[in-house]
Amino acid sequence: MTTRKVAAVTGGASGIGAAAAQRLAADGYDIAIIDMNAQGGEANAKAIAGRGRNAKFYTCDVSDAKAVETIAETIEKEMGPVGVLVTAAALIPNTESVLDMDMPAHDRMWKVNYNGTLYSCQSFARRMVPRAKGAIVTLGSINSRMPLPLPAYNPGKVAIERLTQLLAVELGRHSIRVNSVAPTYVMTPPLRQKVADGQRDMGKIMGVHALPYLPEPTDIADAIAFLASDQARAITGILLPVDSGWLSAVPYRTYAGGVPWEE
Ligand SMILES: NC(=O)c1ccc[n+]([C@@H]2O[C@H](COP(=O)([O-])OP(=O)(O)OC[C@H]3O[C@@H](n4cnc5c(N)ncnc54)[C@H](O)[C@@H]3O)[C@@H](O)[C@H]2O)c1
Repeated sequence: MTTRKVAAVTGGASGIGAAAAQRLAADGYDIAIIDMNAQGGEANAKAIAGRGRNAKFYTCDVSDAKAVETIAETIEKEMGPVGVLVTAAALIPNTESVLDMDMPAHDRMWKVNYNGTLYSCQSFARRMVPRAKGAIVTLGSINSRMPLPLPAYNPGKVAIERLTQLLAVELGRHSIRVNSVAPTYVMTPPLRQKVADGQRDMGKIMGVHALPYLPEPTDIADAIAFLASDQARAITGILLPVDSGWLSAVPYRTYAGGVPWEE
């Protein structure tokens, strides 16, 4: 008898989460998409189902702990035990200074990005523990490794990286692995909007990477699928950058005010 494999993806209606849902479906998982964007979520579930996998959309605000718990219960009842959780639901802000922060937006961002990740991990991991099996992949960012002028989002990603490590240790004895993927800039709707508004220059952004290539959502999805797979059976508690060399290139290129052969 073949066991059904089920993956739950928060933020699976758009961008990286949508690509991760498609990639995991290609790897043989049935997919539960958890998002507030019903249009995108239904469309992605339909696209995945069209390729022969069971895929369902579940509306949920991940910043609401009770709602996340209810959805986890419902998904397991309707689709079966969830073996893989990907937490990609998040709000992505624009640049601002610490002193001029929009505080209601700051509070909302922490609730969605950090608390939402925490609640999702808690609700699904509690169900994985008695089965002694599971893999969780959180969405980090290059933000957790560098101070960037996004004063709610940036420390939030540091917190997610640390949460990932805490969970990796707590859940390791139950054979549940917890890792994080840290993308650089990826062309998903939030970045597309900033480029359209003239707030981001893709030429300049490309120039601060080591590679002349920016990751696509599918590149991030490949890394997520790897960390979720048995090929990563010995990997837990890590943050895997998928950054076209951004983390290496930024300090290198600013050394001594800029190295001459890089000008
Ligand atoms: N795109 C990038 O440049 C980039 C870079 C580094 C990290 N990331 C991370 O990747 C993840 C996905 O980002 P993306 O670029 O695909 O963004 P996106 O906006 O395309 O997708 C985010 C999804 O989260 C959903 N969401 C937002 N608030 C929610 C809530 N309260 N409850 C449920 N769902 C909610 C949105 O509806 C959307 O479908 C995020 O964690 C983001 O921080 C993105």
